[in-house]
Amino acid sequence: SQALAYRFEVKEATYTRLCGTKSILTVNGQFPGPTIYARKGDIVIVKVVNISKYNITIHWHGVKQPRNPWSDGPEYITQCPIKPGGVFTQTVILSEEEGTIWWHAHSDWARATVHGAFIIYPKHGTNYPFQKPDFEVPIILGEWWKRDIVEVYKEFRATGGEPNVSDAFIINGQPGDLYPCSSGDTFKLQVHNGATILLRIINAALNHVLFLAISNHPTIIVGTDGSYTKPLTRDYISIGPGQTIDALLEANQFPGRYYIAARAYSSGVNVSYDNTTTTAILEYDAAYNNASSSPSLPCLPYYNDTKASYSFTSSLRSLASKDHPVKVPLKVNHRIFSTISVNLLPCPVNRTCEGPNGSIFAASMNNISFVLPNIDVLEAYYYHIKGVYGKQFPRYPHPPFDFTAEYQDLRLEVAKLSTQVRVFRYNSTVEIILQGTNLVSGLDHPMHLHGQSFYVVGSGFGNFDKHKDPKHYNLVDPPLQNTVVVPKNGWTTIRFKAHNPGVWYMHCHFERHLTWGMMTTFIVKDGKDLKSRMLPPPSDMPPC
Ligand code: C2O
Ligand code: CU
Repeated sequence: SQALAYRFEVKEATYTRLCGTKSILTVNGQFPGPTIYARKGDIVIVKVVNISKYNITIHWHGVKQPRNPWSDGPEYITQCPIKPGGVFTQTVILSEEEGTIWWHAHSDWARATVHGAFIIYPKHGTNYPFQKPDFEVPIILGEWWKRDIVEVYKEFRATGGEPNVSDAFIINGQPGDLYPCSSGDTFKLQVHNGATILLRIINAALNHVLFLAISNHPTIIVGTDGSYTKPLTRDYISIGPGQTIDALLEANQFPGRYYIAARAYSSGVNVSYDNTTTTAILEYDAAYNNASSSPSLPCLPYYNDTKASYSFTSSLRSLASKDHPVKVPLKVNHRIFSTISVNLLPCPVNRTCEGPNGSIFAASMNNISFVLPNIDVLEAYYYHIKGVYGKQFPRYPHPPFDFTAEYQDLRLEVAKLSTQVRVFRYNSTVEIILQGTNLVSGLDHPMHLHGQSFYVVGSGFGNFDKHKDPKHYNLVDPPLQNTVVVPKNGWTTIRFKAHNPGVWYMHCHFERHLTWGMMTTFIVKDGKDLKSRMLPPPSDMPPC
């Protein structure tokens, strides 16, 4: 393994999209930001220099950071923000991950424009477990707001209602030619007839699960979240915010021009959604000179087709080969059953409350709407600072109720505001059953865990049945992921071994739900020997 160095300057830059020009926050002036290239097991040192006027943190999404939560990045969980003029050198320690992951800002809504791909190649002397592609390309899906994202965020916080919906979806920073003023802002993927291309697909959108398809070209999924899967051929993919998918595209069709298209999968009934479609163009070299031939659109599932999304999500399987074995824990030391809900809070005096019936929205896990502290949980834990967090994140919901019933007791909709974590012994095994609820509105939730990937051993619709459902767990080749879309009015069970000492965030990767508090934090204690303890903090931790 080797050490690689990157310099990330967080600064504003001017971009023109959708007939308007505005200043956005970027890394090194690029949007999407720079791609990091590394090999499995490398160490990447990133000097983050904040020359913007905003507080910022950067997270390496999918990097486990063994023993090193200090460089993980989520604001007020593992660090305080890097203030304007501040510098923080982050040590990104790669271990098992191989394939595509990504990086993004982890403070307020800055990640709308501050994000990029993180590509991890196999170690020298080893190969992909699939046919070597002729070339590869990141396909970063995102959202574009005509307004300043800081204003959108502030207004969202101030009103307590739903956030403004973005004005476009984008592929590699570009909306594509179905949007106004965007024919020049269309990403083009040019290919030779017969080539195989590795698409490194990242959903960097803030608030939407997305369907993606390529006209006439099914793709072969070979990896997700920096881990290989059994090859899976599909006409469309469904990808939650935070997720990554490695897919092979074979340019073996009539050498013409084809649309690559993506749009929202939106399962919440009363959640405003965006029905617009972002496009890129797949163009065979024989067709370069025939730019007039207009591409055809692929079929995408309907915007609220939960079955289509779920059938994709639940088909992923670990490669489970000799070189890429499955290590799913068979015995469970800590079992947590957690609801994931959208909630309401009564309107505090003297503020506007645009949620249903004059309330404000909140969101929760086990009815705790997590409040970010003023000193990060990691430093509070490490330096024994009292009163920053409690250790009472509930292991099950109380009272239990019919989670997915169509009508709910309105009293259940109110959540508690609190900062509660759960502590795990080093090397203990953890199972978490994530149960969606129909409070306020049932919808899918892309749940993400920092510090370790988890095996997705089971999922289904309705209420989890502790007698029946575990019998159908897949303990043979469950996919290894860091983000999983829990289906609307359904549940998902994940398992992992807590072998990474530190402080690790778990949250919904819909930015609006994160802001509303759908999150918790796990502390994995140090083991006994030196090699199973957290590394010491770097000397330049941003001050709180
Ligand atoms: Cu993609 Cu907590 O992050
Ligand atoms: Cu959510």
